[in-house]
Amino acid sequence: MCGIVGAVAERNVERILIDGLKRLEYRGYDSAGIAIVDNQSDLKRVRAKGKVKELEKALTQSALHGNTGIAHTRWATHGIPAECNAHPLMSSNEFALVHNGIIENHDILRQKLIAEGYTFSSETDTETVVHLFHSHYQKNPNLLAATRATVAELEGAYALGIISRHTPNELIAVRQGSPLVVGRGIKENFIASDPIALFPVSNQFYYLEDNDIAHVTLDAVKIYADGNLIERQLHTLEVNCDVVERGEHRHFMSKEIDEQPQAIASCLENRIGKSSLLQTAFGLNTQDIFSKVKHIQLVACGTSYHAAQVARYWIEGLAGIPATVEVASEFRYRSPVMQPHSLFVCLSQSGETADTLAALRLAKKMGYMSSLAICNVPESSLVREADLNFMTRAGIEIGVASTKAFTTQLVSLFMLMISLGRHHHLSAETEKFFISELHQLPKIIESTLKLNSLIANLANHFAEKKHALFLGRGSLYPIALEGALKLKEISYIHAEGYPAGELKHGPLALVDKNMPVIAIAPKDDLIDKIKSNLHEVRARGGELFIFTDDANLLDESSPTTHVIEMPSIAPVLAPIIYTVPLQLLAYHVAILKGTDVDQPRNLAKSVTVE
Ligand code: M6R
Repeated sequence: MCGIVGAVAERNVERILIDGLKRLEYRGYDSAGIAIVDNQSDLKRVRAKGKVKELEKALTQSALHGNTGIAHTRWATHGIPAECNAHPLMSSNEFALVHNGIIENHDILRQKLIAEGYTFSSETDTETVVHLFHSHYQKNPNLLAATRATVAELEGAYALGIISRHTPNELIAVRQGSPLVVGRGIKENFIASDPIALFPVSNQFYYLEDNDIAHVTLDAVKIYADGNLIERQLHTLEVNCDVVERGEHRHFMSKEIDEQPQAIASCLENRIGKSSLLQTAFGLNTQDIFSKVKHIQLVACGTSYHAAQVARYWIEGLAGIPATVEVASEFRYRSPVMQPHSLFVCLSQSGETADTLAALRLAKKMGYMSSLAICNVPESSLVREADLNFMTRAGIEIGVASTKAFTTQLVSLFMLMISLGRHHHLSAETEKFFISELHQLPKIIESTLKLNSLIANLANHFAEKKHALFLGRGSLYPIALEGALKLKEISYIHAEGYPAGELKHGPLALVDKNMPVIAIAPKDDLIDKIKSNLHEVRARGGELFIFTDDANLLDESSPTTHVIEMPSIAPVLAPIIYTVPLQLLAYHVAILKGTDVDQPRNLAKSVTVE
């Protein structure tokens, strides 16, 4: 939530900051701003409501020129999306500050600063920080000292970037609970919420840790923790700028849907052999831990939570290990009871989701036997803090609606089930069968993607609808939830996912000709059950869209029953491939509705606040 970028260079930094902001728009996009110390050592600022392109337009009227600057793209928490609430926030034209996170004690600070004579021009929590900084600088005109005094008074989560007209070639970065990196260049240095913002200008990064304060100048990056100068490891990233370009695709989402065969292949690479999962798939020392596991606690948010729900069916049903699943924001506040010998598994695309991180920290305090992060971002906080980690290798995902991150999470969780199951109920023969199916998966996803034009046509049935119902049974129930989430987040159609057996316990009352019902119905043990549920819908005049590989169901097409033939797959892997047509459906409905597919309203990709 919110993206920060900053630079100190010998060249004009305006373009670097704007390009960086565009790469961070996935973190929030309701307003943006930039402040630069110009050649007269004056602080100049331009802000605009809306996306970074609106800021760019504003800059064509009043371009900024200078060697030190900070910029921000916002996801509103305190104060509506408006120019006055956009960052950077300033104090007396002397200091400019950008912030990602939430200052929990902002009310108290605001009262105190008003009493000191400060006037506020925004409704943000952030403005308290910049005035507080100004207040401390008055007493001790030293950037570092003022930063330390300021953060000592802050409660909450924050990443900060601060510049001052008094120190034109210096930049301060602070991390406490929200991600921030420092990028190294030659005679120029940078800060950003995510390294991808800086890919065109740097491939070497320090990942700041909580409590770190970085003092960034042209030639040096000095990082302090608890007042002491410390060394943080410098990470060199293989940078491929193309991965953050859309290429020939109209949207990142469609690019990311299409990338799934490759992403899944890469997730499987060097992890599965011909007939078994490699011992090293989850790291060298995991077998010892996995052999002692008696319970799995899975925790995640949003789409990652749906992946965790599928995993519960796999881990209990195939490996025979008890598993519980919970959304992270509930787990962290519920006083959960820990099962003996329980492995804590947290799932996150970004690895920066505040609730998931907080749940992991709680689990560590509670003394879970070990924690495993399944994540797509290797340098993320979740990966660094968990005892064990497993990378999903989906590649950078930009579209707010998660697609390839989800299917690679499912593949990772299936491998986790095998790795755990070996020590419990899974036979070598079954493992061999599962591995041979996993080898087929990228190809089957490729053939599923061929449904694209058919689904684009089907989407016409949804464009005018206000509601939709997704049904599935067993491990396909979480896929119904995921299909509903995709549709609502990018097309703004109200959608709900239900276990098909629950239909007659209430939601059937909603069914009429205006309520499309999407059924996920692979030919498995539950196919007859779901067929009965579909007849219940048909009898009430509902319009059915059935995804299936069951030849009997395929005969059932009629003007109000649309049966879409799916490739055949072992039922156990059906959740992975049945996700794909639902992603495509949401995408094409959103196109017809003309919504902002990659950056849907009110959302952000990485939710780093509560
Ligand atoms: O980065 P994470 O996987 O932790 O993110 C969790 C959710 O915020 C995320 O999955 C969200 O629900 C997506 N927008 C869904 O498409």
